[in-house]
Amino acid sequence: MEAKEILLNELNAGKFIEEKIKDISSTAGGGLAVNALSGGVDSAVVTMLGFRALGQKLKTYFIENGLMRKGEPRKVVSLFQELGVPVELVDARKEFFGALKGITDPEKKREAITQAFYKQVFGSLVKKSGAKFLLQGTNYTDIEETVAGIKRQHNILEQLGIDTQQQYGYRLIEPLIELRKPGVREVARALGLPAEIHNRPPFPGPALAARVIGEATPERIETVREATAIVEQELISTKAFQYLAILHQDKVTGVRNGKRDYGLQIEVRCWESTDAKTGSPTKLSYDILDRLAERLTQEVAGVVSVTYNITRKPPSTIEAV
Ligand code: XMP
Repeated sequence: MEAKEILLNELNAGKFIEEKIKDISSTAGGGLAVNALSGGVDSAVVTMLGFRALGQKLKTYFIENGLMRKGEPRKVVSLFQELGVPVELVDARKEFFGALKGITDPEKKREAITQAFYKQVFGSLVKKSGAKFLLQGTNYTDIEETVAGIKRQHNILEQLGIDTQQQYGYRLIEPLIELRKPGVREVARALGLPAEIHNRPPFPGPALAARVIGEATPERIETVREATAIVEQELISTKAFQYLAILHQDKVTGVRNGKRDYGLQIEVRCWESTDAKTGSPTKLSYDILDRLAERLTQEVAGVVSVTYNITRKPPSTIEAV
């Protein structure tokens, strides 16, 4: 692994920001750069650093891949507009669902999302805009897990020996590769980003596709989107590191109004962690678990079973795919 980690107790956020702004502007050298904002803390920090370094020479896109949480695209774009950063929303739902069609294998799903994002969507945006660089928020943990072969993080390319210039027609700038999440959050605070951003629980690059076991069709994504909204509402007060809903592939026999109801299973996960490298399940009260089961089976169409994951990472991982 090439990048050297900056430990949290060694991080001087103000100095880090100044250095990265200088690096970005000297690497881009007056050329145009693009970046994708997802609303997560990593991409938000990269957007602010890029905007401060390049101003109008940075073009920020929010890619509506159809895999984001309820209301997320509109919320994120308007939040950054309030901060004075223009963001263009690009509808790429067709490209992503097209790429995911028929795929059930987790790593193939991740690969399909990577190709749809870098090749199809950004390939054509870069061509259209004439940009030479893509700025992105890869962090130290993303590289570590991919290089170790645990899970291919959607944003790891050059570290796997992929030449982005040759394959996609642009170079990457990755200002956060020396930091883990707590460091990125500290930089976010120092950049003046609101708590809604710097405290935001992590959300994976492959978005809700990482939470559907089996094929990620628009219908199955919609189911997990509804379940996610409920899990987030019910668990926000736990202040846990991350909480999520997963849609299982297998159906199970349920009973509703005295009749057989062969339906869907949702798994809830809620994690205590500091860096996502290891984690343990939050000891949720039975009242909370009961409310989750009640709401998920009543409000999400087709759900007849709700389970809570009680496994640590390792051997579990945080997401299911
Ligand atoms: P896992 O599931 O590997 O997740 O235990 C560790 C942390 O990383 C997030 N995650 C991702 N983040 N791109 C990302 O930017 C990805 O492809 C990706 N996959 C997982 C996950 O939500 C958790 O916080």
